[in-house]
Amino acid sequence: MTCINILIFGDVVGKIGRLALKKHLPVLKDRYSPDITAINVENLAHGRGITPGTLQEMSDLGIDIFTSGHHVWENPQGLSLLDSKDWQTRLIRPLNADPKSAGIGYCVKNIKATNVIFLNLQGRLFMPQEVSSPFLAFDRFWAQTVPQYPNPLVVIDFHAEATSEKQALGHFADGRAGLIYGTHTHVPTADAQILEKGTGYITDAGMVGAYDSVIGFEKNSSIKRYLEDSTAPYELESHGRAVINALLWTVTIDKKGENQLKLIREIIDI
Ligand SMILES: [Fe+2]
Ligand SMILES: [Fe+2]
Repeated sequence: MTCINILIFGDVVGKIGRLALKKHLPVLKDRYSPDITAINVENLAHGRGITPGTLQEMSDLGIDIFTSGHHVWENPQGLSLLDSKDWQTRLIRPLNADPKSAGIGYCVKNIKATNVIFLNLQGRLFMPQEVSSPFLAFDRFWAQTVPQYPNPLVVIDFHAEATSEKQALGHFADGRAGLIYGTHTHVPTADAQILEKGTGYITDAGMVGAYDSVIGFEKNSSIKRYLEDSTAPYELESHGRAVINALLWTVTIDKKGENQLKLIREIIDI
């Protein structure tokens, strides 16, 4: 029986998120022996996108794949990384973003004679940035791109706000994608399941970031936005403990469709 283990983290938020991975990733790697490790980097550099230093820091930890979302466009330093041929083998942004945007929407890692294709899509409901239909983008991707790779296994980071849109895409891609996991809300959901036609699914993998916070941001600055001034800036929480949410997906590649999801949630001192 040949298995592939993929260890997935959702949005890694700011310095606390990066420090938490630096401290705890070796523990998780020892425990779960992942073949591939992936993180979402849209909030990596102080909550807004990526910089060469922060991305390299994560690569040096042994992270293989970097997915992203709408915040990745906000840091100008990130745009050249998205366009860099070196990084494009492992750094992606939503496929259904404006085609003129920097970067590409998928990357491929060959492991155990399987082409593991990471695809990044973004939702449209309650999201700040307009993108084309993730459903039609997936259909086109499945028809035109996936057949170019023998023994494909498609893993989708669906970066979206609405649980309904995420579940709908899950069922839409059921039996085609191997795994669909949500990112963006920073809060993990308890709905991991294997869908009817065998696809692994979870609405959100949750973040790696400050534990005592509002989705990684300083709680009082966040409360202030609701009480007084909805335009007040968010401040990143940079103190206290960290929460690590992750997902271990194990797929048996010689028994088609057999796969399981394990949720991981740990709170650590930094
Ligand atoms: Fe995020
Ligand atoms: Fe996001």
